[in-house]
Amino acid sequence: MSDSLSIAVVGLNYWGPNLARNFARLPGSRLAWCCDLDEELLDSHRPNFETARFTTDLDEVLADPDVDGVAIATPVPTHAALALRALEAGKHVFVEKPIALTAADARAVAESADEKGLVAMVDHLLVHHPAVAKVKAMIEAGELGQIYYLYGNRQNLGIVRPDENALWSLGPHDISVMLHLVGERPVEASASGESYLQPGIEDVVFGRVRFPSGVLGHLHLSWLDPHKMRKMTVIGADKMAVFDDMETERKVTVYDKGPVPRTDTYGEYIQVRSGDIHIPKIPGTEPLRLVTSHFIESIREKTSPLSDAWSGVAVVEVLEAMTESLGNAGAPVAIGEAT
Ligand SMILES: NC(=O)c1ccc[n+]([C@@H]2O[C@H](COP(=O)([O-])OP(=O)(O)OC[C@H]3O[C@@H](n4cnc5c(N)ncnc54)[C@H](O)[C@@H]3O)[C@@H](O)[C@H]2O)c1
Repeated sequence: MSDSLSIAVVGLNYWGPNLARNFARLPGSRLAWCCDLDEELLDSHRPNFETARFTTDLDEVLADPDVDGVAIATPVPTHAALALRALEAGKHVFVEKPIALTAADARAVAESADEKGLVAMVDHLLVHHPAVAKVKAMIEAGELGQIYYLYGNRQNLGIVRPDENALWSLGPHDISVMLHLVGERPVEASASGESYLQPGIEDVVFGRVRFPSGVLGHLHLSWLDPHKMRKMTVIGADKMAVFDDMETERKVTVYDKGPVPRTDTYGEYIQVRSGDIHIPKIPGTEPLRLVTSHFIESIREKTSPLSDAWSGVAVVEVLEAMTESLGNAGAPVAIGEAT
């Protein structure tokens, strides 16, 4: 392995160029290949990535012994098959979210990486966000007290996707953050939603997850909404924390609010208190830079990434359960034993 790891990016339409830009600029990596089925699209990127080689044939990339890792930014139905091909060729993989369309396919990727001793990482971008890291650290330090529940808002007007619903398009972000913050595998999920713009493709989804400890998670996902919201609110027994990704300086706000612990058993009412509001300083590092450099570091240090393929499996399990629930009038669906 040379000083700089050689990375190939596969899929260069909307999101892939962001990955290519990061892998080209990171100190520890080199953008070795750009691969897309669309020759014209590749041509349009040649001036941006002058040191990379360009191809429409993934096999050419996989046959290059100098390639250390492959980053996959193709449509979701292709993720698992392409990741398995790359792993089979001995390459570490970075896969866009969600890692696969089914939990079985996601598991196949995770198992293959484990068997071969290769890194398989999923781009659960927000798990690497410094603001999420701050909230996670506060939870782990017990600053919020016992976590009661949390909820995510991811709403906007557009982008209306023709091939996946609001749950699959927007949900992986919030589900990955919830699972990371709570630190448990959910036992049950349910979802209700409606398709107003295109038949069979839900524009709005309200999802719920239950964790074994009793923590409840709720999601509001929509591309048919006047508000642009990207927010996660965590309610603890002692404090409440809000991660608001639309804010530039107030990414995290901590409210010293909550119920007053009872000192006697005779009181009729539970008292609540409302104390200071605190805004911790959050580093402004671009999360995509953090996530791509974490991939490089995981390969170099031979460590399991924070958002490894198994965390990708857990997110897809929730997406699958919510999809089943959507088709069954919102009935709760049990999520299997953790693998
Ligand atoms: N992490 C994030 O915040 C974020 C944001 C947007 C998109 N994404 C994810 O990125 C992925 C790509 O999204 P997009 O909107 O750019 O998709 P897109 O459909 O616009 O582009 C996909 C590209 O992949 C190429 N492609 C398909 N199959 C290929 C193959 N076998 N070999 C080489 N190239 C192939 C297509 O030609 C196309 O150019 C999706 O998984 C999406 O969920 C993630």
